[in-house]
This record gives sequence, structure tokens and C-alpha cells, in this order.
Amino acid sequence: MPVLPPDEHVRVLISEERIRERIAELALEIRAQVGSEPVTCIGVLKGSFIFMADLVRALGGPVRCEFLGVSSYHGGTRSTGVVRITQDLRHPIEGQHCLLIEDIVDTGLTLDYLKHFLGGHRPASLRTVTLLDKPDHREVEVDADHVGFTIPDEFVVGYGLDLGELYRNLPFIGVYSP
Ligand code: IMP
Repeated sequence: MPVLPPDEHVRVLISEERIRERIAELALEIRAQVGSEPVTCIGVLKGSFIFMADLVRALGGPVRCEFLGVSSYHGGTRSTGVVRITQDLRHPIEGQHCLLIEDIVDTGLTLDYLKHFLGGHRPASLRTVTLLDKPDHREVEVDADHVGFTIPDEFVVGYGLDLGELYRNLPFIGVYSP
């Protein structure tokens, strides 16, 4: 049964089914790179929490879960450009194979900042995955190693992504238009 958008502001861009299929592919891609080694998955809160929950289950094998809280938005639809850590790692990641899990890369400022931040913690390796990539709006030259979907420069919500803390619970990715 199709899931109806909750209001007239949101139209479906990527369906639940398409997300599920792509995550299975991403998991294979990532495991092919890291092999059977334990992977420390580091989810960037809050936007990646649903993606991470699905990705770690698809990854299988030995996995640790860590979280970083980051804020660069103040409830609007454009980044402030200033990245702030609001929740630090709870355990050391030194010597571990790490996978940074992002919901979306837009200007690239957050991903760039976090790559440097985590690099400073001396992991054995660091890979990055983002569910969504909006390459049209880059301010820093940075790309994730693994990308779920490349999308146009539109504001999207759902599957963890919010607008003013709403819409995170939509099971699909939708475009928000006011
Ligand atoms: P960046 O630093 O500009 O690359 O933005 C990264 C962060 O901005 C993401 O982790 C999201 O939290 C947020 N963001 C960027 N674009 C969107 C969007 O279209 N919808 C919801 N959040 C977004």
C-alpha cells in the first residue's frame, strides 16, 4: 500500500523500497572494502539515525556503533556554515576501522570538518558513506567514499532528515516545498 505524504508540502522523491534496495548494495560495497574486520560505525546525529540503523543491520559481521552530535543548522533550510560538535565520541576509536555515516552532504562543510576531526583520533582507516549527495552546492571539495543517491539541490526531509525537527519519521525521502 503506498505511503501518503503527510501534507501538501512534501512529495516523494525516493521510495522506501528504493532506499532498502540501495542500502543492501551499499552494505556489499562497504564490506567488499573492509572485509570481515570489525567496523566502528559512527553515525552523525540526528539526521543519520534511521539510515545507520538499517545500514548496520545490512552490513552484518562485527560492528561497533558510535555517535557524534553535530549542528550546523538552526531550524532553517540553509546551513549556517559553522559546524559545532554537540556530542563527542564516547569511546576511543584509535586503531579501529571506522565508517562515518552521514545523512546528506550539501556544502560539504560538515563532512570535511568531521573527516579532520576523526582523523585526529588516529583510526586505522576511515571511510565515509552518505545516503544522499547534493553536489550542486559544494563549498569545500569533499566527497563521501560511498553515496546512496545523488539528488538535485532541493531541500529534502524524511528517513531521518528534518525541517525544524519535524518529518524525520517519514519512511521515504521527500522534497519539501513551502
Ligand atoms: P553540509 O555541511 O552543508 O554538507 O550539510 C550537512 C548537514 O546539513 C546534513 O548532515 C544535514 O543535517 C543538513 N542538510 C543539508 N541539506 C539538507 C536537506 O536537504 N534536508 C535536511 N537537512 C539537510
